[in-house]
Amino acid sequence: PLVSMNEFLPKAKANKFAVGQFNMNNLEFAQAIVEAAIQEKSPFIYGVSEGALKYMGIEFTVAIAEAAAKKSGLPIALHLDHGSSFEVAMKCIRAGFSSVMFDGSHYPLEENIRLTKEIVKAAHAMGVSVEGELGTIGGVEDDISVDEADAALAKPEEAIRFWEETGVDALAIAVGTAHGMYKGEPKIRFDIIREVAAKVPVPIVLHGGSGVPDDAIREAIQCGVGKINVNTENQIACTDKIREVLGKDSKVYDPRKYLGPAREAMIEVVAEKIRLFGSSNQA
Ligand code: G3H
Ligand code: ZN
Repeated sequence: PLVSMNEFLPKAKANKFAVGQFNMNNLEFAQAIVEAAIQEKSPFIYGVSEGALKYMGIEFTVAIAEAAAKKSGLPIALHLDHGSSFEVAMKCIRAGFSSVMFDGSHYPLEENIRLTKEIVKAAHAMGVSVEGELGTIGGVEDDISVDEADAALAKPEEAIRFWEETGVDALAIAVGTAHGMYKGEPKIRFDIIREVAAKVPVPIVLHGGSGVPDDAIREAIQCGVGKINVNTENQIACTDKIREVLGKDSKVYDPRKYLGPAREAMIEVVAEKIRLFGSSNQA
């Protein structure tokens, strides 16, 4: 069965590794992610954005994740990514999600705390884990687009207070990464991660994991990151491979002929991330 993130996040923080959240966009993504995790014997999180939920349909999303859990025997969390309201979070939980993120980062702090608290209360009563967010992460993800100029780093004192008052199971803070690939090197504020991680018992979540250099990922984990989100790198691997296959053969018409190789390409990406995050053999 699908499990809450609390099945593996405390261990990740204690043993300094990170569990990957890999976003599910369709069946091939879901299959590639679980296949890589089976190879690496790793727990993982299926992230599903509201946009992806609309695209796949909630019933298919849950059924696919449950099939992956059954097939693999691995601890898998099915997690709403950047949930925008109490209603969406409850809809997901009722449908079978084992974890939800509430992204109240665009609200004033007090309002973010109040709304996040309500979700934590309801979710915890049903054994579902919750991720909250503080500070604004730049870049574009689905319908969420934040200008780099509006991206704001999390303030450590606020992040600590946010955790104390909400009791979230994982804390996403803006520390300099952005959604999507980077134009230059991201400047990650390891000092902020370290300061917050020292004062809250739950792991810090790093959003915008695509395109972050391996060394920066390793250092972030040492500082207290225990969950890392990756989507764009898989999207690029998938689309690049499809382009390559279609470019080589203008007569191909069977989708399996390009979706199969695309799925293989994503297995590679995910397996490499799992090894980098140190979660191999932690299932
Ligand atoms: O919530 C999802 C992630 O933060 C994905 O970011 O597409 O830059 O890997 P990414
Ligand atoms: Zn994100």
